[in-house]
Amino acid sequence: MAASEVEVSASPVSNETGYRSFELGEFGFARDEYFVYISWTAKGQKLSHTMSADAFLRATMRCVAWGFFYGWLNFDDIFGTQQLYGRVKFYAGRFSPAFHDQGLDHEEIFETPRAMATFKEMLADWTNDGYDPFAAPDETGLSWIGKKNGSNEEAIGREREVCRRMPGLPGDAPLRTDESGRPVNRAFADVPQDQPEVHAEPGFEGEVHAHNLFGYLSRSDVTWNPSVSSIVKQSLFCPTTEEYILPVKHGNDRMEWFIQLSDQIDWEIEDKETGRPRAKVIMKAGDVSIMPADIRHQGFSKKRSMLLVWENGNPDLPAMYEKGELPVNLSGEF
Ligand code: PHB
Ligand code: FE
Repeated sequence: MAASEVEVSASPVSNETGYRSFELGEFGFARDEYFVYISWTAKGQKLSHTMSADAFLRATMRCVAWGFFYGWLNFDDIFGTQQLYGRVKFYAGRFSPAFHDQGLDHEEIFETPRAMATFKEMLADWTNDGYDPFAAPDETGLSWIGKKNGSNEEAIGREREVCRRMPGLPGDAPLRTDESGRPVNRAFADVPQDQPEVHAEPGFEGEVHAHNLFGYLSRSDVTWNPSVSSIVKQSLFCPTTEEYILPVKHGNDRMEWFIQLSDQIDWEIEDKETGRPRAKVIMKAGDVSIMPADIRHQGFSKKRSMLLVWENGNPDLPAMYEKGELPVNLSGEF
């Protein structure tokens, strides 16, 4: 079923702020000039959690663009989503002892198209003209603040770029150029833009290919949004450009590799279940790290940087880790 065919439960426009409120199962979502309020009921009590609308919209944008990604997307220490591949679990307070130990947390599973349709409509209603939840704060400014003021369908309608084999091959994702409206980002003005020369043996012209990955990434207009830019079996190379803070604390359901291609990202690593700090990983250009399958992590990038996220797309992995068939620090077969 297409997401657009699913019914979304939304209130009429508020007279005070111009924004609509939304319901998904027993969860309520409302926004005003600065904040988003997530509400639920537990033990007969109405509970609510407040987030900055900026942080909420940045996280919601990733849920929408990534189809809820792998594993857990923690918006903060209270609210988040868990990928169940076809369905998605929303939780509030589940990983916060203050709520969970008293039975005041709430979890609910939805068919993905319904959750997706609700998030898409919420994002469309709550994103003001001029605000781009994919952009670095320095680039998009403060138009997320205030009463409802227009919309920005162009920014939130972007799809994650996925290639079949590699950008630039016939019929695959195109290389980015000035002419195609993909200018070099202000932070990467020093990145060379020349392309490799390819000399294929006669008869192999359509099968041998190369392109300048640094040049490609320097033209990305989004942050914290891995694009799948080469695929071999289950091995997915997902390079991305990062500035400011990864909008979610990602809880892994598989191991993943990080290769820092330029500049620096500082990672905070926490226990997936308790949120207790486990490590800080300072990654400089050329550093490689592996995030195990039992943690959550959040990255901080002071200057826009390039990161290669290497994912194992094998759909059997989450069950293998859960059953203990695979140690949390091994990746399994690609
Ligand atoms: C991650 O959760 O591993 C992740 C997500 C988005 C990025 C980088 C890393 O841009
Ligand atoms: Fe991750």
